[in-house]
Amino acid sequence: MRIKIAAGNWKMNQSYQEGIHLAQEIIEKANPQKDELVILGCPYIHLKDIINLSQEKTNIKVAAQNCHQEKSGAYTGEISVSMLSSIGVEYVILGHSERRQYFRETNEILSAKVKGALSSNIRPIFCCGESLEIRTEGWHIRYVKNQLVKALFDLSPEDFKRIIIAYEPIWAIGTGLTASPQQAQEMHFEIRKTIEEHFGTSIANNTSILYGGSVKPNNAKELFSQPDVDGGLVGGASLTSESFLPIISALSTPKV
Ligand code: 13P
Repeated sequence: MRIKIAAGNWKMNQSYQEGIHLAQEIIEKANPQKDELVILGCPYIHLKDIINLSQEKTNIKVAAQNCHQEKSGAYTGEISVSMLSSIGVEYVILGHSERRQYFRETNEILSAKVKGALSSNIRPIFCCGESLEIRTEGWHIRYVKNQLVKALFDLSPEDFKRIIIAYEPIWAIGTGLTASPQQAQEMHFEIRKTIEEHFGTSIANNTSILYGGSVKPNNAKELFSQPDVDGGLVGGASLTSESFLPIISALSTPKV
């Protein structure tokens, strides 16, 4: 059975107090079903306290937004996977387009980060997605497949099973432009097919593939109703409970 996931990515937002308040509201009011998971991708300062706050609700988790690929050492300002796992973090967002663009994270670096996270028992939420230019030129599917192949396809099947994919077209992030449900479904279908070709049908069918890019309360149901869209990775709309709670509820939308 494939898990449906509403993951929030707070990015570099929320003071300590604001973040804790938001998490408290979500933990209190969200009611994910047994095949559903809520993940709060918060800044490092919030991780430990939100883990403590969410103890009672087994299907509400936190994710870090990054980790370093080396185990430890002289990397001022960075955080290691063993540090994250020492406070009970179970998920990490890796390969977000903002990290690829502003911090020059290549597929090779991401491959190392993915392996590091898995070795500490932390599940990557691995982001992929094309720019507007690539989509306009028509090779977006090839581009996204290549991102997956380069960073993930040398994993063992056992390790790959622990990966969550998030397809986030760059042109839809923070722009208010959303991929149409058909555009999202087309890419998610292609991603699942590529996983199937490499890892087999069972693993492909059990991999959660999230859509990200201007997911809002008014479009979440239609996006999540697509057969291969297993939820969302949500930026702006995850910053208030008023907008994130309806997106969590939309996970239960029947498939078309
Ligand atoms: P928005 O929902 O603000 O477009 O951000 C999407 C995103 O980047 C989530 O990781």
